[in-house]
Amino acid sequence: TFDNRVKIVEVGPRDGLQNEKKSIPLATKIELIERLAKTGLQTIEAGAFVSPKWVPQMANSDEILEHLLKTPPPSPVPLTFSFLAPNTKGLESALSILGKYPDAYETETTRSGKSAQEGGKPALEIAVFAAATESFSQKNLNCSIDASLRQFKEVIQQAKQANLRVRAYISVVLGCPFEGYDVDPHRVAAIATDLLEMGADEISLGDTTGMGTAPRTKELLNCLSLAGIRNEDLAMHFHDTYAQALVNTAVALEHGIRTFDSSVGGLGGCPYSPGATGNVATENVVYFMESLGMDTGVDLDRVADIGDWITREIGKPNDSVVGKAVLGA
Ligand code: HMG
Ligand code: MG
Repeated sequence: TFDNRVKIVEVGPRDGLQNEKKSIPLATKIELIERLAKTGLQTIEAGAFVSPKWVPQMANSDEILEHLLKTPPPSPVPLTFSFLAPNTKGLESALSILGKYPDAYETETTRSGKSAQEGGKPALEIAVFAAATESFSQKNLNCSIDASLRQFKEVIQQAKQANLRVRAYISVVLGCPFEGYDVDPHRVAAIATDLLEMGADEISLGDTTGMGTAPRTKELLNCLSLAGIRNEDLAMHFHDTYAQALVNTAVALEHGIRTFDSSVGGLGGCPYSPGATGNVATENVVYFMESLGMDTGVDLDRVADIGDWITREIGKPNDSVVGKAVLGA
């Protein structure tokens, strides 16, 4: 039978907010996560344990994690909260907070499959982030691809010892702001294979610049399949800079991918990818999936309301065409 379930990973609270110049109050970030938790979204990327000098907006991720453990948001589905950690320093910060609340979260071995409303606790996930080009790796992580992979090996090992699920991003897979369109899909396949062998549970393929096109998405996914990488180990992370995200999503869906990252209100942009705009809007992805008969489990009206609210809150235009249409705005 055809499996029509699609998982949406909401990255708004992290990818969506990290690039905002004005400091967003902690309470707003927490309210955003709490609102998203009510929509049926199962995974929410909530922050990043990165250097506050590099990405000041993520500086209070420790307080966000602590709040989510102390006061888990009500949710109709089992929730996973994801946090970026580029090195062991970041992971250790996260683990020291988890250590204070050992009974407040699920690990890979204790996952109950219960929602908060059924008395379940949230699961925690750690995300590392590699790049497909040397230039982007230097700009984003201040080191070469190989050096970053050596660091991630340690991060993944330690996260796995703590029984946490690990996601691994690969950025600029379909275009690099410094090296252009010709990103080698075989290099992406090799990096993905390394990360999976290190123990990553999932690879999220980042079209950081939004330069991806339908044929190049197809070429990349074919290359990964030929390299033996399974569709169930992959997620697509499209930015919508050139309005190709849904076209590329259709190609990935057709290829058999069932996990897609998106950001409410189309928020976002990477600080190290000049000119790149936000992630594809969650509203757009949910609407598109529904139009194809796919099941996201996400309440479109609620997400549209959140997109309207958060974009007003931070003084940005609502970048979701679907969100605006749904709201009649
Ligand atoms: P560095 O400067 O080379 O690191 O940065 P360092 O080891 O030399 O340390 C420098 C300072 O940073 C030290 O502090 C460290 O303690 C501190 P000082 O002694 O100067 O006071 N430091 C940290 N502080 C907090 N948390 C940490 C941490 N590590 C070191 N984890 C580093 C290297 C990796 C830290 C830096 O480059 C960094 O934080 N990069 C993160 C950049 C980032 O967050 N980018 C955005 C996320 S990725 C993305 O958006 C793409 C994605 O969406 C997918 C896609 O679209 O493609 C995921
Ligand atoms: Mg991104």
